[in-house]
Amino acid sequence: MKNINDIKKIAVVGSGTMGVGIAQVFAQYNYPVILFDVNANALEKAKNILNKNLDFLVEKSKISAEEKTNIYNRVTFETQAEQVIADFIIEAIIENETAKKELFKSLANYNTPDCIFATNTSTIPITKIANGIPNPERVLGVHYFNPAHIMKLVEIIAGVQTDKNIAQICYDLMKHIGKTPIMASDAPGFIVNRVARHYYVESLKIAEENISNIETIDILMENAGFKMGPFKLMDLIGVDVNFSVTNSIYNLFYQDAKFRPSRIQQQLVDAGNHGRKTGKGFYEYK
Ligand SMILES: NC(=O)c1ccc[n+]([C@@H]2O[C@H](COP(=O)([O-])OP(=O)(O)OC[C@H]3O[C@@H](n4cnc5c(N)ncnc54)[C@H](O)[C@@H]3O)[C@@H](O)[C@H]2O)c1
Repeated sequence: MKNINDIKKIAVVGSGTMGVGIAQVFAQYNYPVILFDVNANALEKAKNILNKNLDFLVEKSKISAEEKTNIYNRVTFETQAEQVIADFIIEAIIENETAKKELFKSLANYNTPDCIFATNTSTIPITKIANGIPNPERVLGVHYFNPAHIMKLVEIIAGVQTDKNIAQICYDLMKHIGKTPIMASDAPGFIVNRVARHYYVESLKIAEENISNIETIDILMENAGFKMGPFKLMDLIGVDVNFSVTNSIYNLFYQDAKFRPSRIQQQLVDAGNHGRKTGKGFYEYK
């Protein structure tokens, strides 16, 4: 693969919080996109979200009704892994190293050796994911932020084995679809998640120590200039996803106390209260 002109077809694996927004932007930029999920219900949910997101753009006169139909029709919803054939595949499945490796190994059976395998992992080292995948030089991190169809920033992360030219092609691809890519090193949490950890971890400590409550902390941080308070943000991200990111960074830094996960967050995860996507997290949602 020489440059972005060789990328004609996109596949997004995992149609949850991140996958649908990632697929939407590619479709808006005229790419045919396969959105693949093992869970048919998740795909149904993704169809509704995509529809709603595009309706919103029509309402705001950003796109016409005809453009909406064209964008929507560029996305194919798929539940069979054998059908996931593309030039650029990005996975946004659960944050689990084994699951991501198994996925890429299986997709390697259906795709050419120069098909790019990008992972949206928040914290798993790219070097670890790439190890054992056929043609590991095509594996890299392309890390979006939530909501993926709105947030401009994307971290491009090359692992030890990644071909630097592939990283550059992905950087160019992100620019081409209106994103603001930056190159990051394959270090724990890359850049943004490492910095942001303290926003969540300290806020959780303050709540745990009864210094203040979650509503007050959110109000204070929003008035201090943050767009969203930490608890509202964790509910948006997914309390489970945010918790596993903290755990992962904590362990990658050899249990450095400054990244220690919180018990109140652990309890919400155990209770299945994962934030907006389950209707309940730190707050309740109708
Ligand atoms: N949520 C965020 O704010 C956020 C931000 C940046 C990066 N990420 C990362 O993106 C990834 C996805 O996070 P999410 O919040 O969208 O997760 P999610 O739980 O909302 O969605 C994951 C989807 O993947 C599907 N899935 C699981 N295993 C699969 C497989 N083997 N093949 C196909 N589909 C499979 C599930 O059915 C589900 O629909 C994670 O690695 C996460 O760390 C999340």
